[in-house]
Amino acid sequence: MVFALLNGSYHRHGGDGSYQRVRSVVWEVLGGCGTEDCKDWWSECPWKPRYPDTRPPASLCWRSETKFVYPRASTAFTWYCDNPRPQKMDIHLAVLPTQHHVLSDKDQNDWLEFITFCFHAKGTPRSHFARQLNNEPIHTILVARLASPTNTVSIVSTVRIFHRTIVPNIRTAGIGAVCTHPSYRKQGLSSKLLDFARQVIADMNAFDCSLLHCAPRFQSFYHQRGWTNTLLVETLVVDMVPTIHDNDTGDYIVQPYAIATDSHLPQLQQLHQTFSGGKIGADIRPKAFSSALMSSYQASIFVATTKAVPETVVGYCSLQYHVRDGCFVWTLCDLGVEKNVPHDVIRRLVAHAMHVQLEQLEQMDTHTHQTVEMPSCCKFLGTEDQHVGHKIDHGWLYYDVLPGSNNSLQKQMESTTIATATRWKIDGF
Ligand SMILES: CC(C)(COP(=O)(O)OP(=O)(O)OC[C@H]1O[C@@H](n2cnc3c(N)ncnc32)[C@H](O)[C@@H]1OP(=O)(O)O)[C@@H](O)C(=O)NCCC(=O)NCCS
Repeated sequence: MVFALLNGSYHRHGGDGSYQRVRSVVWEVLGGCGTEDCKDWWSECPWKPRYPDTRPPASLCWRSETKFVYPRASTAFTWYCDNPRPQKMDIHLAVLPTQHHVLSDKDQNDWLEFITFCFHAKGTPRSHFARQLNNEPIHTILVARLASPTNTVSIVSTVRIFHRTIVPNIRTAGIGAVCTHPSYRKQGLSSKLLDFARQVIADMNAFDCSLLHCAPRFQSFYHQRGWTNTLLVETLVVDMVPTIHDNDTGDYIVQPYAIATDSHLPQLQQLHQTFSGGKIGADIRPKAFSSALMSSYQASIFVATTKAVPETVVGYCSLQYHVRDGCFVWTLCDLGVEKNVPHDVIRRLVAHAMHVQLEQLEQMDTHTHQTVEMPSCCKFLGTEDQHVGHKIDHGWLYYDVLPGSNNSLQKQMESTTIATATRWKIDGF
């Protein structure tokens, strides 16, 4: 059931075309238009023959008040329409202003609402984008805005630029949140914003390269817009058996991070640096960013300590699962270990994390092999008798902002004997 409610004058004044507007908006929401395939959406509207003089529905100044699914609406929503769609779109590209790198509450809310709407079909929740805004120390948000005749403006497309440093010391402009309102796609808006992003990145004079991650179907889209190089990232698929491990045997204890105190945080940061410091492509995390990540991922973190000095963490992992075709698929989102810790202890740490998480889910069958996906630098977690598969992710794309410089990522990749880079899921993108 779909409810389309138009606010304001459309309801109060009969004979102004509001009924047709409701029908055409409903038609649009049901997927008749607003999809990428339907360019001339009005000419294909099934009700047009009955209402030959009807103008296209109002430009979509929308605000979701209840949860809804686009394009196939399955629940109630309110869609506010305002002025007729301008014949010629008057689009302004802008950087959202910040004070000490913080957006105003209004800009933040409007942006979060917009982006959640655009990614709704993918199911990415608003909290994901809100966390990125809160966790990142510095970000620059670019928007394309449609200026309506009444001078109200609404976002129709956006791109987020965020600051990262990756091993070996490459100042990186991360690109994320690339999206356009469904009714304004295929009109070059994202392309324009990505061109604008390249210009902003160059003007900032603070970056060696720009990096993004995308699904295979978008690779050619970004290639055409200048993210021409591919940073290969290899993922290993290792069979592991979730196990409890007796805490009273051996020299080490493995347990959930929940036991840890704030004093453990610098230890985890140090362990990340020790383990990933030499792995090209991995993030070099500033302290504040690292703390924010660790607290977001706290429930998924497990630590290994020595019995002799129980307050010293010698290794940690962050492990998460999702269910694919009825099976658990685990991802090793992060790992940090001291150099001298035996590999077997790290295997026990991961197996213990799996066991505890399955127990929390009250899954009784915890002793069967399950697959864990991890960056290829964790090869040591697989043993010869375990099946180890692998897949290459071609979705990390970049270009060098300063191609000739020593910090050119392309040069760094060419100079290393290892063709693949390391990226941890916890660092998100
Ligand atoms: C992917 C997405 C961002 C593209 O936004 P967009 O504003 O439609 O992008 P553009 O209009 O610049 O380009 C899209 C395509 O339309 C084409 N196009 C551009 N202007 C056009 C026009 N006037 N007429 C017809 N096609 C046009 C482009 O050439 C491009 O095709 P290509 O990929 O074959 O080169 C948008 O579909 C979206 O928001 N998707 C949901 C969120 C998402 O998945 N984001 C990607 C995250 S990696």
